Amino acid sequence: MTQPPEIERVLFTEQQVSQRIGEVAAEISEKFRGRDLKLIGVLKGSVFFLTALARAISIPVKIDFLAISSFSGPAESGAPGMVRIAKDLDDPIEDEDVLLVEDIVDTGFTTRYLLKTLAGRGPRSLAICTLLDRTARRIVQVPVAFRCFEIPDRFVVGCGLDYKQLYRNLGYIAVMNPAHLNQAPLNPEKD
Ligand code: IMP
Ligand code: MG
Repeated sequence: MTQPPEIERVLFTEQQVSQRIGEVAAEISEKFRGRDLKLIGVLKGSVFFLTALARAISIPVKIDFLAISSFSGPAESGAPGMVRIAKDLDDPIEDEDVLLVEDIVDTGFTTRYLLKTLAGRGPRSLAICTLLDRTARRIVQVPVAFRCFEIPDRFVVGCGLDYKQLYRNLGYIAVMNPAHLNQAPLNPEKD
């Protein structure tokens, strides 16, 4: 596939992504063998990863989705964005083994909020699986049980991750050319 000019460089090719997802899916299948697993995706960023992961997992899985919106704290306060659920899960998760599937764990605020919310619903177990982990920018600690790739402190797109809703459908993961990022926000929105 030819790269759009907004792409600076490819971090992980489509083949590397799919191979790594296969490896993580095998780890997950092993860990939860003999049980049913519910994968919870966060719209819209984790949809591409979740479907690839689900197809590579060899134990029975159910899937459900939620959507979140975030609000920035007052600019001068330096407060982190606040998160709320914009679309909730279709079904309860009580007594289920739940895997929260994320596109990226960055500062950790979104994931921490989701973990806390889901934990309150009485799942049998609750763990995080993320496609990308950017630990260099972590502010709040969250326990990441499964991750495909650690990434550098650069804004990335592809495999579900967007910039202004574009580039989600790229099969590879790429660093955006900073000249194409408005005001170069690392985190222009949270979905
Ligand atoms: P956190 O609350 O800071 O961990 O933010 C996580 C959310 O920010 C992700 O679910 C993404 O929607 C968004 N995000 C963070 N970094 C990037 C990136 O490099 N590219 C695209 N979206 C990102
Ligand atoms: Mg986004």
